[in-house]
Amino acid sequence: MPNTSERTFIAIKPDGVQRNLVGKIIQRFEERGYKLVALKLVQASKNHLEVHYQDLKEKPFFPGLIKYMQSGPIVAMVWEGLDAVRQGRAMLGATNPLDSNAGTIRGDYCIQTGRNICHGSDSVDSANREISHWFKQDELVDYEFANKVWLY
Ligand code: TYD
Repeated sequence: MPNTSERTFIAIKPDGVQRNLVGKIIQRFEERGYKLVALKLVQASKNHLEVHYQDLKEKPFFPGLIKYMQSGPIVAMVWEGLDAVRQGRAMLGATNPLDSNAGTIRGDYCIQTGRNICHGSDSVDSANREISHWFKQDELVDYEFANKVWLY
């Protein structure tokens, strides 16, 4: 049996929200076949974002990244399904939109690395860490996903 309960943390960054791309990005995950497990709109604090991006704290772009991520609300989500982490990254496209293929979210909707509209966990371990950083246990909703019968 394939692991159909892998989870990934996907966020729509402040520019994605301000550019009215929330619906389009959610629609891609819904249509692909992923199950929405958690969703909220948050204005994240500096400290929260610094912990989220802790692995990048030595990078020259870190202060700018934190400021950008704090510049408006973020849509935080958890999506579940087969290969959710790797598939989520594939759906987002490359970090630098110059390298993102058309048909990916970044490849279709943005042009600069520092305004690349979305985030997706890069491994199962980071997904678990990010999910528990952004959501309380009782915000992860347990429900029957009817589509499952047709997807797997
Ligand atoms: P990173 O974790 O390397 O990429 P990804 O978001 O694809 O997992 O970097 C986190 C974010 O930092 C990235 O989405 C945009 C920003 N960033 C820059 O602003 N400049 C850069 O040179 C890089 C590599 C990232």
